[in-house]
Amino acid sequence: MGTDATMSANPPPLFSPGCVVNPYPTYRVHLAGPSVQPLAVMPGNFVVFQFAACSALLRDRRLSVAQRARSFIPVGDDRLPEFNDLYQHFRRWLLNLDAPVHTRLRKLMNAGFAPVTVERLRLEIEAVVRRLLADMETRHSVDVIEDYAYPLPVRVISRLLGIPESLENRCVQLSSDVVAWLGNPRRAAEETECAQMAVRELESIFETVIRKRDKGSSGDDLLCLLLKIAADDGAITPADLLAQCVLLLVAGHETTRNLIGNAVYTLLKYPAALDEVRTDDNAARMAVEEVLRFESPVQGFRRTVMEDIDFDGYRISAGADLFFILGAAHRDPRLVEAPDSFDIRRNHNRHLAFGGDAHVCVGATLARLEAQIAVRELARRFPSLALVNDNPEWNPTFTFRGLRRLPVTL
Ligand code: HEM
Repeated sequence: MGTDATMSANPPPLFSPGCVVNPYPTYRVHLAGPSVQPLAVMPGNFVVFQFAACSALLRDRRLSVAQRARSFIPVGDDRLPEFNDLYQHFRRWLLNLDAPVHTRLRKLMNAGFAPVTVERLRLEIEAVVRRLLADMETRHSVDVIEDYAYPLPVRVISRLLGIPESLENRCVQLSSDVVAWLGNPRRAAEETECAQMAVRELESIFETVIRKRDKGSSGDDLLCLLLKIAADDGAITPADLLAQCVLLLVAGHETTRNLIGNAVYTLLKYPAALDEVRTDDNAARMAVEEVLRFESPVQGFRRTVMEDIDFDGYRISAGADLFFILGAAHRDPRLVEAPDSFDIRRNHNRHLAFGGDAHVCVGATLARLEAQIAVRELARRFPSLALVNDNPEWNPTFTFRGLRRLPVTL
């Protein structure tokens, strides 16, 4: 068990670069405030930090995900046509659909992520992990992100979506451009343009993959499932199909890479927990759950308020965006004792790392399985694993918390 002890009277403002590096002092100040707070950097919008408020408001049907798509395009209506391709694509993501359209598609997509379906991937994940570890064996030091946390989820999701190995790296580069836009609440038009170009190219890659797949080969992967859904359901257009492919690629590797990286980093800072992971089969599972709480790979997301909401004595007006700060909710002292302590043996370790209610992450079981295997096998294979640098650099995107590099000696 250990503590993230950084305390500051004047922590950096929410979403600022300083807050991205270490958001917890900022969260601590906001957690002591009211349950609903105006968002200083985006007037007219609101933020929730406390766990109970996040959980309750996430279930509120007066909130929309479909409406938020427009606020991701940071230009006035006069310039919207310039970004129309990105806007139309993004609006089709499952993540951005409201009921009843969301309910129908989500039910169909759940089939690809049922626990038995994911469990069938275990041997494949273990094989990828073994290969990556074998490649590291002869080296004195490696970058856990580049050599391990990055390739594992990419291989898994690429295989599920039928992306050929030769295109994996290109797809990841393009996906990173989408993430740089998606993950920065203060996004600019330039990042949006870059994301639009990336999305166009990803759509064209998936068009080719789908065309080839249609011509013959069959299988039991996610691409087959999506093709079947589109074939059976006349309401799902080819554009909808491509949008889900891009969503699954982006969602399927970025966050899982960050979970693995955050887990290895945190465990190296708390060696007693790392020892447990080496010796106790159940410890990897508990460690991953505690990392999901302690260094949440998704720090927050937003919804749009469709009708005035009175919550806990505060009025949130229709039309406002409401930001849920999951990373803060996980450090709420009303939720957990000693929230800034990393303790893999916590009982009832509740968190919202995968969101909640209708949009709860469809890939949560897969992400957990990949992270548990990755952390356990790395710890076991390299008993002398050590950090090269106590303060590695974090990625600059607020929403997706992960390390840029994690150099270690083996
Ligand atoms: C550590 C890894 C992951 C984390 C922390 C994570 C987190 C999240 C969160 C917080 C949401 C809800 C967002 C919102 O309500 O606005 C979400 C939704 C989603 N995630 Fe994940 N995710 C992870 C891995 C994955 C994987 C591996 C996949 C797929 C292969 C995936 C696919 C999706 C999809 C499709 C949605 C939209 C669900 C819906 O709207 O119904 N995620 N994820």
